[in-house]
Order: sequence, then structure tokens, then C-alpha cells
Amino acid sequence: MSDEPLLRVRGLEKRFGELRALDGFDLDVAEGRLTALIGPNGAGKTTAFACIAGAQRPSAGSVRFKGREVAGLPYHRIARLGVARTYQVVQTFDAMSVVEAVTVGALLRRPKLSEARAWADEILGFVGLHAKRTMLGRSLTIADKKRLELARALSTEPRLILLDEVMAGLTPTECADAVKLLRSILARGVTILMVEHVMEVLMPLADRVVVLAAGKPIFAGSPQAAAADPLVIEAYLGRP
Ligand SMILES: Nc1ncnc2c1ncn2[C@@H]1O[C@H](COP(=O)(O)OP(=O)(O)O)[C@@H](O)[C@H]1O
Ligand SMILES: [Mg+2]
Repeated sequence: MSDEPLLRVRGLEKRFGELRALDGFDLDVAEGRLTALIGPNGAGKTTAFACIAGAQRPSAGSVRFKGREVAGLPYHRIARLGVARTYQVVQTFDAMSVVEAVTVGALLRRPKLSEARAWADEILGFVGLHAKRTMLGRSLTIADKKRLELARALSTEPRLILLDEVMAGLTPTECADAVKLLRSILARGVTILMVEHVMEVLMPLADRVVVLAAGKPIFAGSPQAAAADPLVIEAYLGRP
């Protein structure tokens, strides 16, 4: 067995014209763990997710998933290999019912519609949305839209799930529910890489924190060590 992590990113670059959104980004994500990616606004976190998931093509660098180079592969190929992603700006699927929106994801591995629907129902039960399965996406609360995003990602049966600010805009109670859900996702054996700003959420949850500033990692270690690191405090928290 190789000891290469499930996801291994090296020297990742993404340029938008003159702007280097990612400028030598390195990241290791260990299987079965929750890794958090934090950093100030504009640091490149969402761009990193897009490049890992294949929604954007990296300008340079390596992304290895399960030991295999995937940088530059199209989104659907990377999804099939087992990477799923939620979006910072929630994709509401306004005009679709909850179960239809999840069935679309489920079709990736279950091309028979009846089987995809049955799997979508199972995932909706898992995330606690089953009672709302016939509601339209647009009529859901923010917290339920985030659950729907998670359900859509899980419906593709990923090994690795990339969560972009799934807690943003939630009340403390909703946040606590989301943390429980993340723990049960880990218990299913799904590895999590998440962008999250609330350190109180990450402290007990994250095995490892990677701090990104201006497209480069400036720290990797435990959440406790991150919160005590002077460079991190300066770049991220902006105060001692
Ligand atoms: N499609 C794009 N075209 C041009 N610039 C972009 C694009 N996407 C992101 N950027 C820029 O890249 C930088 C990183 O953005 P982003 O990855 O969204 O940061 P974060 O998620 O950490 O807040 C920002 O300066 C942003 O304006
Ligand atoms: Mg972002």
C-alpha cells in the first residue's frame, strides 16, 4: 500500500489574466479525515475547489486523487472517480422538486431512473430532508438549501466531498445540526475537505487546517496550532 494521501495537490496555479488566484498551492488530504481550508476573502479557496473538481482548468501543477493525476480532466470524469462538491452560492434548483434535484446526481452511478430515485430517497433520509422531498428548491429555507446541496453531492457516492462554506448564513442551532451531519458523513467513510470561517466550528471537528493566503499555503497543522500561529493570526484573523 502506498502512503500517498487520498488527495495530493502540488504547485497548483490558476491565473486569470495578470491575477494569480492560486500561486503554488500544495495540499494533502488524508483519507477518512476532515481537512479545513481557511483564509481571507479572495485567497483562492473557491478557485482551489474548482480546479480540484475540474470545473476550472488549472494553469499549472498537479492534482492527484487516489494516486492518479486528474489535473485538467473534465468535471464529469473527476466526479466519476469520486469527487463531489457543494457551491458557495447555493444552487437552488428553483423549479425542481427536492427529490428530482437529488435524482439528477444519483443518475451518475445509477442510470436506471427507478434506482436513481430510490437512492435519492435514501440520501434525503440521511440528510433529514425526506419529509420535504416534493417541495420546490426555491421554497426551502437557507439551511434546507444547504442540506439539499449536501444531498446532491452525496448522491454521486463520492470518496471525497468538497464543501464550500456550508455553514455560512446558518443560525447556531442549524450550525450544530450541520456539524452532526458532517460527523455522520465521516462515519460513512467519506473524506471531507471544507472551507469554513467559523473557528469555533473547526476546533472540535477538523483533523487538520490548511491556511491559504494570496494563493499560497502559509500553514498546515492542527486547528489549535493554527489559532496560535502568529502568521495565521496576522493573515487570517487580522488581529493578535
Ligand atoms: N472566474 C474568475 N475570473 C477572474 N478572477 C477570478 C475568477 N474567479 C476568482 N477570481 C479571483 O481570484 C481570486 C480568488 O478568488 P476565490 O477563489 O473566489 O477566493 P476565496 O474563495 O478564497 O474568497 C480573487 O481575487 C477573485 O476575484
Ligand atoms: Mg470562496
